[in-house]
Amino acid sequence: MLGEFTYVNPTRIHFGKEALAKLPGELVQYGDRVLLVYGGGSIKRTGLYDKIVTVLRECGKQIFEDAGVMPNPTLEKLREGIQIARKHEIDLILAVGGGSVCDYAKALSVSVHCDEDPWEKYYVRFEEPTCPIVPVGCVLTMVGTGSEMNGGSVITNRETMRKVGHVFGEAVYPKFSILNPELTYTLPEYQMKAGFYDIMSHILEQYFSGTDDNTSDYLMEGLLRSLIHSTRIAVKNPTDYEARSNIMWIATLALNTLVAKGKATDWEVHMLGQAVGAYTDATHGMTLSAVAGAYYRHILPYGLPKFKRLAVNVWNVSPDGKSDEQIANEGLAAMDAWMEEIGLVRSLAELGVTEDMLEGIADATFLQEGGYKVLNRSEVVEILRASM
Ligand code: NZQ
Ligand code: ZN
Repeated sequence: MLGEFTYVNPTRIHFGKEALAKLPGELVQYGDRVLLVYGGGSIKRTGLYDKIVTVLRECGKQIFEDAGVMPNPTLEKLREGIQIARKHEIDLILAVGGGSVCDYAKALSVSVHCDEDPWEKYYVRFEEPTCPIVPVGCVLTMVGTGSEMNGGSVITNRETMRKVGHVFGEAVYPKFSILNPELTYTLPEYQMKAGFYDIMSHILEQYFSGTDDNTSDYLMEGLLRSLIHSTRIAVKNPTDYEARSNIMWIATLALNTLVAKGKATDWEVHMLGQAVGAYTDATHGMTLSAVAGAYYRHILPYGLPKFKRLAVNVWNVSPDGKSDEQIANEGLAAMDAWMEEIGLVRSLAELGVTEDMLEGIADATFLQEGGYKVLNRSEVVEILRASM
């Protein structure tokens, strides 16, 4: 049964090959001083930087830059960005890049006018902003996180070895996001594939909660089927527009809060992955694929009916003559096979995790309560060890 909820998503999405043509219509709604935020330089190599700067100039904007946002953006970088944005009295933050750039832009948007320490306020106490928020727009170049249409913002504190996500309310969502699947063709294969698992993880972590009959679960099964189908095509032919555009939209739908409605949601795989990220700086999606197999096998006995349902409805496992356990396990085996086919990282050792890190990673892992099993610390260590 669906409980009480409010649903709103204020981000305007412009999708398709010509989506960038919608940028001037968005820019006109904001002041002249634009902070262009981007990563380590991919947008310069692909020519997107020149296109964006041309549009900004044609719209009469003053352009200020905050470059070098790294994957898994750090608090140190955020502090640098705050100084830049304050100095130039920015009216709009235009994030051009992947989830890291979008996440960082949101963190910046709530920190520019904040008198308190942003880490303590947003990433330790998880408070909502009480200061004016600088609006954010986004041109997405990497698919996976859903950051283009949500309030999520993950920041890494290198001093305390913590990678923490704050899911901000709708005032912090990007005002608009431009989604052109062709802008993702230049992604390195490793990043593309990491994004594929990030999407799958987002959907599974919402699916694996609750025992009621919930429309959100049916939506997620459809998204998963489409994701599995399209990723199989995209790994063989990364410039297949049909597949890449489907995947881009699945990623957005997976984490724009729609399919979370009426769901408790789990997110323990993300908590494990983020802790691994804090220790290794590994690519987000691969931190999830490395621990997922061990985690799901660990919780399967506690959520058996849902694992069975996933196996039949998503992985096409035939239930005839089999026990529930057999069906559920065949579903997980099918997921393993898909992961191998896509070429995902399946072990923490491959990401640079060593045995001596495991206790620290366990300390950095938040324990979630929405899934089928609330883990204790020793179970976390057990899952990490099984993922090595
Ligand atoms: O920095 P540049 O040079 O741009 O290179 C990036 C980066 O090295 C490169 N790249 C991106 N688009 C490209 C490209 N290279 C060539 N062509 C393109 N079109 O790809 C690398 C990875 O980019 P990044 O933005 O780090 O990847 P992703 O989109 O996976 O973002 C990861 C971050 O998002 C957080 C993660 O924790 C991680 O910090 N997440 C945010 C969420 C949210 N807001 O809701 C939820 C997610 O679960 C996730 O936790
Ligand atoms: Zn993720």
